[in-house]
Amino acid sequence: MDAVIRMKDVSKTFGEVAALRNVDFEVGANEIVGLLGDNGAGKSTLVKILTGFHQPDPGGEVYWKGQKVEHLSVARARDLGIEVVYQERALADLQPLWRNIFMGRELSNRWGVLDLSTMRKETEKLMTTAMGFTSAAVSADSVVGGFSGGERQGVAITRALYFQAELIILDEPTMGLSLTETRKCIDFVLGIKQAGKSAIFIDHNIFHVHPVADRIVVLDRGTVAGEFRKGELTLDGLIEQLSRVARTGSLKDNSRTAS
Ligand SMILES: Nc1ncnc2c1ncn2[C@@H]1O[C@H](COP(=O)(O)OP(=O)(O)OP(=O)(O)O)[C@@H](O)[C@H]1O
Ligand SMILES: [Mg+2]
Repeated sequence: MDAVIRMKDVSKTFGEVAALRNVDFEVGANEIVGLLGDNGAGKSTLVKILTGFHQPDPGGEVYWKGQKVEHLSVARARDLGIEVVYQERALADLQPLWRNIFMGRELSNRWGVLDLSTMRKETEKLMTTAMGFTSAAVSADSVVGGFSGGERQGVAITRALYFQAELIILDEPTMGLSLTETRKCIDFVLGIKQAGKSAIFIDHNIFHVHPVADRIVVLDRGTVAGEFRKGELTLDGLIEQLSRVARTGSLKDNSRTAS
C-alpha cells in the first residue's frame, strides 16, 4: 500500500543554513513514526514542509497517498487531512471548549445559522468518550485557558480525530507536561493508532517515543541518520545507537573504515 505521505529528496535552506539535506521520509497507513533528533536537527522544519508552511527547495517532492502534490499550501495540507498539534498555540484560551473543538469548522443548521446546541452536545459527548474528562468542574462551556497542558493536548488531538485527520503531527507534545499528563498524552497517541490513522510523534525523550512508535527515524544536522522498526531494537540498543549518532552523525558502524 502507498504511504500516506512521502517526501523525496527534500532539502530546505535558510540563507546559509541547510536545515534539511536530501531527506527521504515517509509515513505509512496507520503507522506511528517517532522522529528523534537533537536541537536544530531539522525536525520542525520537516513538519513545516508537510503542513505547507514552508516550501522545499527546488527538486524536492512530496507525495500524498501516491500522488505528487505540486504545491503543498497550508490550506491544501488541511484539506488532505494533515493536522498539527502543538502544546502552545493549539487552542484559543479565551474561548469555551466547544468553540475550540469546532473552530474554523462550525456546524450550522439548514438556514445557515450556527447550530450552537449540536456543537455543545457533540462536545459533551467527546469529553466523556474521547477526552476522558471526568471532572464535574469542566463542561462544554468551560473556557480552555484554565486547562492543564495535558488536557489541552487531549482537546487538540480529539478535535483532529473528530474531523477525520489522516495524519496527526505532534511536535514535542510532552514538553512541560507532568508525568501523569505525559502518560495521558502518550495514551492519546495510542488512540490515533486505534482510530486507524497515522502520526508523527516528535520528542526529545526516547522513553516517550519508543513505547508508541512503530518506526523511529533519527535526524541529525538535517539528514536522516538512520531508522529502525519497533522490535528491531530494544530500548537499550536504541540509546546506544543514538549516542553513536551524536558522536558520528550516522547509525552505521564506521569504526572499521575510519582510521
Ligand atoms: N525560519 C528559519 N530561518 C532561518 N533558519 C531557520 C528557520 N527555521 C529553522 N532554521 C534553522 O534550521 C535548523 C533546523 O531547525 P529546526 O527548528 O527544524 O530544528 P528542530 O530539530 O526542530 O530543533 P528543536 O529540537 O530545537 O525544536 C536550525 O539550525 C534552525 O536555526
Ligand atoms: Mg523543533
